[in-house]
Amino acid sequence: MTAPTHPRTSDELIRAEEPVLAHNYHPLPVVVARAEGAWVEDVEGRRYLDMLAGYSALNFGHRHPALVEAAHRQLDRLTLTSRAFHNDRLAGFAERLAGLTGQDMVLPMNTGAEAVESGIKLARKWAYDVKGVPADRATIVVAADNFHGRTTTIVSFSTDETARSGFGPFTPGFRIVPYNDLAALEAAVDETTAAVLIEPIQGEAGVNIPDDGYLAGVRELTRRAGCLFVADEIQSGLGRTGHTLAVQHEDVVPDVVLLGKALGGGIVPVSAVVGRREVLGVLHPGEHGSTFGGNPLAAAVGTAVVELLETGVFQRRAAELGEVLRDGLAALVGRGVVGFRSRGLWAGVDVDPALGTGRAVSERLMREGILAKDTHGSTIRLAPPLTITADELTSALASLEKVLAVDA
Ligand SMILES: Cc1ncc(COP(=O)(O)O)c(C=O)c1O
Repeated sequence: MTAPTHPRTSDELIRAEEPVLAHNYHPLPVVVARAEGAWVEDVEGRRYLDMLAGYSALNFGHRHPALVEAAHRQLDRLTLTSRAFHNDRLAGFAERLAGLTGQDMVLPMNTGAEAVESGIKLARKWAYDVKGVPADRATIVVAADNFHGRTTTIVSFSTDETARSGFGPFTPGFRIVPYNDLAALEAAVDETTAAVLIEPIQGEAGVNIPDDGYLAGVRELTRRAGCLFVADEIQSGLGRTGHTLAVQHEDVVPDVVLLGKALGGGIVPVSAVVGRREVLGVLHPGEHGSTFGGNPLAAAVGTAVVELLETGVFQRRAAELGEVLRDGLAALVGRGVVGFRSRGLWAGVDVDPALGTGRAVSERLMREGILAKDTHGSTIRLAPPLTITADELTSALASLEKVLAVDA
């Protein structure tokens, strides 16, 4: 089949995907062609305020000038070496990222799932080499309702049947406990435990925020039990919640932090495992790697991302505008919203199921020029770029109020 040469409409492009693209997503029916800052534009030139920001991959908005400039400069010089050779951008990236996160070492990868896989391998190797767990006996304790990605090992410890069903056999070695339950965690940890792996805030589960003291409790428990605390900050990290990392709300420093999404500045996939030397130091040549991990283009963009975060401006914006978001949502409780959870510029909004599914509400928002995405059932996730203005945020909340009005 040959592709038509005339410019295609949104409807034509959506229909054209059906026979040639795997159906592993169910996107909203909008075809984005251009974007800048917090705004995207579709093929027909309709503008939408992006209240999802690529699930936090666009924390700095679309095409942030400093990030685009860093990418352009690097494109003109050197893009890929593989790790067979050194490149002149990687050392600086690792130094800056370790400094930003208060850790010693960096393992650069590409996607979030790869960072999680890498964290799992590191924790197991550390358990055998440093902790002295007998070969092939290491366990990792995880939380119910987690979302850490889609690889075979990661879905092995998912509690979402859609993510798992049909993909077995699964990787053994994981124990699942309820989230936000320190007693259950304590009961699951034993001498075989390599690590506790959790999201400081569960994004996909609907921006599930644990009780105050939970993260500090996990830190204290893992220290006492002699196992690692691995925090998956792929969605919660890099400014989203009002701090560089969500664990900082409880002054917690994990042994290992997993980063992705915003680390690539919305331009290239960049992820990383950052952690203590005692943990990352267990890897030797040949034991782990990736052709693209740490490539010069990724390192240049990642360094520019770290530079933006070093200013503290984005964390402050997330904290300040987070109050606008929280107040706006609080005013909608009882008026179409039955509950919400928010931290910084990140919210899970439970809409009254009588007003429609989260999907239906997202489609109504789309028609109002607001892009957001449902998660489970009647929950809508809001995660605008941290560059959004107070006026834009207020107008998005007004649109939400409008679509939730009973006569919408
Ligand atoms: C907490 C968390 N971990 C891991 C991932 C997987 O990242 P990726 O889709 O880049 O593989 C995600 C993606 O949403 C996530 O939210």
